[in-house]
Amino acid sequence: MVSPDNFQLPEQLSTGAAEVDDLYMFVYWFSLIFTAIIVAVMIYCIVKFRRRPGVKAEPVGHNLVMELVWTFGPVVFIAILFHLGFKVYVHNAVAQEGAMEIRARGRQWLWEFQYPNGSTATNELKLPVGKPVKFIISSDDVLHSFYVPGARLKRDAVPGMYTNITFTPTKLGPMQVFCAEYCGTSHSGMLAMIEVMTPEAFQKFLDEGDKPPAGTSPEEYGATLYKKNACNTCHSVDGSKMPGPTWKGLWGKQEQMADGSTVQVDENYVKESILKPQAKIAAGFTTTQMPPFTLKDPQIDAIIAYMKTLK
Ligand code: CUA
Repeated sequence: MVSPDNFQLPEQLSTGAAEVDDLYMFVYWFSLIFTAIIVAVMIYCIVKFRRRPGVKAEPVGHNLVMELVWTFGPVVFIAILFHLGFKVYVHNAVAQEGAMEIRARGRQWLWEFQYPNGSTATNELKLPVGKPVKFIISSDDVLHSFYVPGARLKRDAVPGMYTNITFTPTKLGPMQVFCAEYCGTSHSGMLAMIEVMTPEAFQKFLDEGDKPPAGTSPEEYGATLYKKNACNTCHSVDGSKMPGPTWKGLWGKQEQMADGSTVQVDENYVKESILKPQAKIAAGFTTTQMPPFTLKDPQIDAIIAYMKTLK
């Protein structure tokens, strides 16, 4: 993924990535050359004008030319840097006419995406290659940061406001998304994957929706959905303590509720807990962090099949 000719920067996967890298390299060489010149002049002066026995220092007076050069020289250089940086910034902040709008919602600890047709997906987004995309980013709880290294873009997801970034994917294949703002226990697991596909495959996906890969059993599909929907950021499958109840041994159990009642963990309970997580809260789990998931029956059935294997 890293190429040796761009200083180990990640592969450029969007139209704006090359611009950001060019700017970075310009600032890098610019700084390096000027540092070398300044240090060289400094060393020359230290040696040439050092104190020597019998030589008396002459008082130095005003030098208008030098003052003008060292005042306006840097001003010109910084204005050039600002101009170049601002151009790249605007390109990445202002969406092109007709860009596809995707909502990206950060939440402890997952990314939820919403396509223009209203369908949603967790931690996984499909995009067509060559089409400009505008991400409208928000947060449901704390500060997160939507970070796509392949596009050289990062924008905070701030509770109570919308932020946005825009880019055009240029290569087929995966694009990693990270959360780049520390947001709690599972911050490091708050990852999402963008899959860039051909426009035809993307249209097909929009028309048909998500399906289990051919030949997978319901249990395997359920295990995939467990990771894909980020259930794994709050529910363990080995009995270890996490923000939500563990799934190990959960199926069929008489679960104690926070209000004192007891509930049998069956199809209805699991389905309700996925679609309306606040309806019943298990004892010891006062948190109401879990968002509702818009899963269809075949997916819920697969999750149940997977749960049954976790004895
Ligand atoms: Cu969300 Cu870190």
